[in-house]
Amino acid sequence: MEVDGNSKKEPIDVLALFPEVRSIKDANLRDAVIATWQELWSMSQWVRVQDVPTGPEVPYPTIPHNQAVIAMSLAIADVFESVHGVTVDRDCLVAAAVLQDASKPIEYAPSANGGFSIAPLGRMYPHGFWAAHVALKHGIPDSVVHILLTHASQSPTFPESLEGKILYYADQLDVIAIHKDRWRKQIFISK
Ligand SMILES: [Fe+2]
Repeated sequence: MEVDGNSKKEPIDVLALFPEVRSIKDANLRDAVIATWQELWSMSQWVRVQDVPTGPEVPYPTIPHNQAVIAMSLAIADVFESVHGVTVDRDCLVAAAVLQDASKPIEYAPSANGGFSIAPLGRMYPHGFWAAHVALKHGIPDSVVHILLTHASQSPTFPESLEGKILYYADQLDVIAIHKDRWRKQIFISK
């Protein structure tokens, strides 16, 4: 589906917003992460990326949320590696953390009263679908795209990889910091 971007929109500087992208060792992956964010931003109706919200239930800008999730994910990876000797694929983790919410600029749209609404693509597709779609188009590997599709709490499945699980829990923890604790314990028996 074609979506016209806002012509007054400010350009997006992915490296300035997410300097961790520079740490991605695979140059093709690094370039593809930047290109994916740029393409999704070009499709959006927003003027300033700083105005894009975390979500309808979380009235907080998505960029600092995204930055916090990247930083927490890398801090968890540091502890896993230094304390337990558990290896984490940093390229995969950084790429997924930077792109996890890159589709929010087209899932939400600014409204005239200064608020926002769910954009048509946000109503028609699950959160993360378009980030995954554009990422695949730019050659981003399945290991990263899998995380983009499974990182949301609404996803029917958990991420399978360690990198995906780190991101999933860091993302949910950050929502506690910027909004509230939405977790509830359910009593059930499951293997
Ligand atoms: Fe997300």
